[in-house]
Amino acid sequence: MSASIATPMTLQTTIEQRVDALLQQMTLAEKIGQMCQCDASQGYAPEYLAEGLRAGRIGSVLNVADVNTVNELQRIVVEESRLGIPLLVGRDVIHGFKTIMPIPLGQAASWNPDVVRDGARVAALEAATAGINWTFAPMIDISRDARWGRIAESLGECVLLTSELAVAMVEGFQTDDLAATGSIASCAKHFAGYGAVESGRDYATTNIPETKLRNVYLRPFKAAVDAGVTTLMTSFSDLNGIPATANDFLLRQVLRDEWSFDGLVVSDWDSIRQLQVHGLTANDKESAYEAVTAGVDMEMAGDAYAYHLAELIDDGRVSLDTIDNAVANILRVKFGLGVFENPYTDATKLPPIANEHAMQTARQAALQSVVMLKNDHGTLPLSADQLNSVAVIGPLADAPYQQLGTWIFDGDVELSVTPMHAIHSLVGHDLDVRYLRAMENSRSKVSESFDEAVEVAADSDAVVLFLGEESILSGEAHSRADISLPGDQAELVRRIRETGKPVIAVILAGRPLTLTNIVDQVDAILFAWHPGTMGGPAIADLLFGIESPSGKLPATFPRMVGQIPIYYSQKNSGKPASWETIAHIEEIDSRAPQTSLGMSAFHLDTLFTPLFAFGHGLSYAAFDYQNIRRSTHEVKLGETVTVSADLTNHGDVAADEVVQFYMRDVVASVTRPVKELKGFRRVHVAPGQTVSVDFELHTDDLAFFGRDMKKTIEPGQFHVWIGGSSETELRTEFWIVEG
Ligand code: BGC
Repeated sequence: MSASIATPMTLQTTIEQRVDALLQQMTLAEKIGQMCQCDASQGYAPEYLAEGLRAGRIGSVLNVADVNTVNELQRIVVEESRLGIPLLVGRDVIHGFKTIMPIPLGQAASWNPDVVRDGARVAALEAATAGINWTFAPMIDISRDARWGRIAESLGECVLLTSELAVAMVEGFQTDDLAATGSIASCAKHFAGYGAVESGRDYATTNIPETKLRNVYLRPFKAAVDAGVTTLMTSFSDLNGIPATANDFLLRQVLRDEWSFDGLVVSDWDSIRQLQVHGLTANDKESAYEAVTAGVDMEMAGDAYAYHLAELIDDGRVSLDTIDNAVANILRVKFGLGVFENPYTDATKLPPIANEHAMQTARQAALQSVVMLKNDHGTLPLSADQLNSVAVIGPLADAPYQQLGTWIFDGDVELSVTPMHAIHSLVGHDLDVRYLRAMENSRSKVSESFDEAVEVAADSDAVVLFLGEESILSGEAHSRADISLPGDQAELVRRIRETGKPVIAVILAGRPLTLTNIVDQVDAILFAWHPGTMGGPAIADLLFGIESPSGKLPATFPRMVGQIPIYYSQKNSGKPASWETIAHIEEIDSRAPQTSLGMSAFHLDTLFTPLFAFGHGLSYAAFDYQNIRRSTHEVKLGETVTVSADLTNHGDVAADEVVQFYMRDVVASVTRPVKELKGFRRVHVAPGQTVSVDFELHTDDLAFFGRDMKKTIEPGQFHVWIGGSSETELRTEFWIVEG
């Protein structure tokens, strides 16, 4: 029976039979070959690579994105190797291939699984034209430290938001038919805990207690596994003393035994050999031993497996079963992808790159990802009818490459439409648009153009400043210790402020920034992340009110770096800070006994609150939440409760609002966060309209990992909130009782 007409059950059986049959024909060397992934970034098939393919020494390649080369590599392996096992062709297609969507953190600000799914679908279709059949995304490391450059690639700080968007991304890449043309395998990474690196330094140590690991960091991975993600990548970092790449608790106990994952686990780039650098092993052979016994099926870019696995089997330290299991996990993905049936790529069978649909998808994603952080006195939207001129100033107004963000190996900069161009085409015929870059790049400390910028601003009716970070300032190994606007940007803001003109800051960045030093100097802020190919038109539409901002923050914005980690789902502590208890450093009487300071969890030199809270984001509509209610006061274990609130748009424009639903388990055997997101929904509300937004909660949704590391739901009191940000105070409660 052919796989394509089989029912899923039969297909599964067929795949298992094919895996077994193939395993039986393979020599040990061929099996080990499947476990080796090789860099093939040369853009052609060099002889050593061709030789390795012919000999069955390579199961996968990465970093080749040219269809002719990929087809040639597949041809060599299929036609010239003994068993003709085709390759997995991996690539970091993180937020688009040629057409670039906003960075993942930006996409997360849309709080819209459809946006994320559609973006991944476009990316998969485009990547598939190059013969790529495996992307190393989604990156779903919960990330609560904006110093970490890789927060840009993440979906933010929240377990539920990350989990739901992770699932959407997996669906977009893989679809429900992995073997279909244009579906590619996806890879949930980095398993696990990488987002908690100490002081936000990439690759640094992570220490995460098991309850936190299970209740926070592992949950998005469990969601991705349940959604059928075919592969996982290990993290570079050390987790509680055992680097993730050798962590059998993660890779065996949790992933295989508890979650029954039967897909492929790949190491990160050379992370097996790095076990020695961590100080876990003395040499590459021991590293190979640790990784393979922990459950890493494939080695990315290193050669510890190629050189040492056979020897480890000879020594009797690694069993053939271990190897067979690893190879089965790899072959399962290959059979699932249908790559045995269709090893070659015919790009003409796929939609053209950067087609109209792709560009519209990128534009929608950018539109929904922009967060309006402040808008004093209705400064925005700008009205082309009421202005004669607008100044567009700043290093990121017309920076086609920078707006694409990190991880855009294949992104086509020629496709970028910059804000400056988009503003020109939208309103250039109605008003005078004056552009000045003013700074060479975001880090520049050369302020010689500032006088001219002030002149341009003073001469215009409104000023839009395009500030932020260039793309190189975030991403892998691009962490920052100071996350304020780099270079002399704050000085530029100060100078422009002096003109007395309305000042709007549009900030393009790869992370939350500390904006404390400029927030009061501007009238409005649109935070656009790195918005991708179509960032320009999206921003122009928002500035001029064609569309209303609707993004909400997927990560907390601290006032200053010293507050990190700061996130909405913190624990209460025994002495929580409150407005009654805080003391300011200026007010301290240095002769008073220390007990006079309020004795609660605050810093003396800043407020305990963030500058902008998780979930925050303003709109041109005027939203108001009222009348929170629940379907029952007492919910029996195993039953559901519906919590609702009325949302009214008192404004003049129709707009989307992301309604958020939070809860707190008030008393539990393991302390629980002060708020946890339990649901969210994007709703469109017309002026004057009131809608009731309902969230249904099953008592299972309230489960957490308790002291015994088992999932538990404890009867008791639960607070629930509905609102437009994590700071909502619209609360009710219910009790869970034994059934
Ligand atoms: C990154 C991974 C990436 C891999 C392949 C590593 O340095 O940590 O996320 O998928 O390189 O490019």
